Amino acid sequence: MKLLAILALTSVTYAFPATSWSKLAETFNERRIRNGLHVRQSDPEPLAVVDGLTKIPDDDHPFMAPGPTDQRGPCPGLNTLANHGYLPRNGIVTQADILSATAAGFNMGADLAEVVSTIAIAYDGDLITSRLSIGGPDNRTSFLGSLQNIFGVEGGLDHHASFETDTSATRDDAFFGNDYTMMPNLYAQMKSIAAQHGGLYNLDAMKDLQLLRYQQSIATNPTFYLLPLQGPLNVIAKTFIPAFFSNGTYGAGGVPNEASISAFFGAELLPNGSFTAVPERFPDNWYRRGTPFQLSDAFEATLDLLNSTGIVFGANAGQVNSFLPLDLAAATNVNGLACILRDAIQANVPTSISQPIEIVEQVISSVVDLIDPLFGDFGCPAFNASQTQAYAAINKINNGSS
Ligand code: HEM
Repeated sequence: MKLLAILALTSVTYAFPATSWSKLAETFNERRIRNGLHVRQSDPEPLAVVDGLTKIPDDDHPFMAPGPTDQRGPCPGLNTLANHGYLPRNGIVTQADILSATAAGFNMGADLAEVVSTIAIAYDGDLITSRLSIGGPDNRTSFLGSLQNIFGVEGGLDHHASFETDTSATRDDAFFGNDYTMMPNLYAQMKSIAAQHGGLYNLDAMKDLQLLRYQQSIATNPTFYLLPLQGPLNVIAKTFIPAFFSNGTYGAGGVPNEASISAFFGAELLPNGSFTAVPERFPDNWYRRGTPFQLSDAFEATLDLLNSTGIVFGANAGQVNSFLPLDLAAATNVNGLACILRDAIQANVPTSISQPIEIVEQVISSVVDLIDPLFGDFGCPAFNASQTQAYAAINKINNGSS
């Protein structure tokens, strides 16, 4: 079986020279200029300065519910930032917007924000403008507007299997339809797990939640898969719940309780005890963490979560309860986990360039060139070509073409 063969192929990594968004843009510009198309580049915006415990939101960022053409999607953090105008309220954002807003609103470390946003823009957004829809596909992301379809789809964060994946805390698996809206029943399930941890949505509660969602997906979703690249990101996102949504710094007195968490997920309690979905917002009287949560912090929390739950990456083979583990060297330390993620970035094809096949390889390398310097501290081993094919095949499955 093809899936079995793919799952038998395994890890290892790459080393590419440093480059930048502008170099990647050049690759595209050259091609598009050859095709008679022109590009307008905008200047990057300055980053916000973050220091100490700060009450959020400030007076300049009041809550406003999104309008009908504003994009919102699977990420409660970005939805909250857009509903308060830290991100553009229309939900069409650039990388500079994300770096600035995640620092200002949540004290996300610049290295973490850069890695996560680069992956998102490469796989769900527009490589030229660095614009991304934080919800569904939208002509406003591409500098080509509706002509973008010539090159491929810019799916936005809702797009399944580029970044968004199964076993989310409060979103259904894509197999069941809507993979981006907060589901009140899943929120209630998360709350019942927090109740077993003194009402706290702490890392221990997230471990139980991740394991439960994994078991539920294996038992109910025949198309379930949790693979690099999306698997580690899915687990990292669970660690964001205590790390960023706590009132104050988690682990240093910050509290991830119901009052803090429910507002970020847009979970409003009804008189009958059930929940309904409302736009996400900062809770009242809320203080952002005082120290940045950085890439290495995220890897450390993720490794802890993976090791204590025994969760392995893999996929159901077309029917429920048929899970096949990916034969991937287990990450025993932060460096190993970082390198697994970096390998997976190398192997995935950005959806926006799925059509001009001849430059796909070049673009993948360019995306990795952007990511690679950010992984410099993790000592990843050198590239093994067979791994590229393994992940390219996985990517075909991800894109539904196999
Ligand atoms: C830096 C840019 C960011 C991008 C591109 C991004 C993107 C995403 C995406 C695509 C998902 C869905 C993952 C899945 O299906 O498993 C997600 C989930 C999530 N994100 Fe973000 N995110 C970002 C920053 C943040 C920040 C700053 C926070 C918190 C303050 C956050 C909190 C979360 C949480 C808690 C989830 C899990 C939701 C659930 O499973 O129900 N994210 N994010």
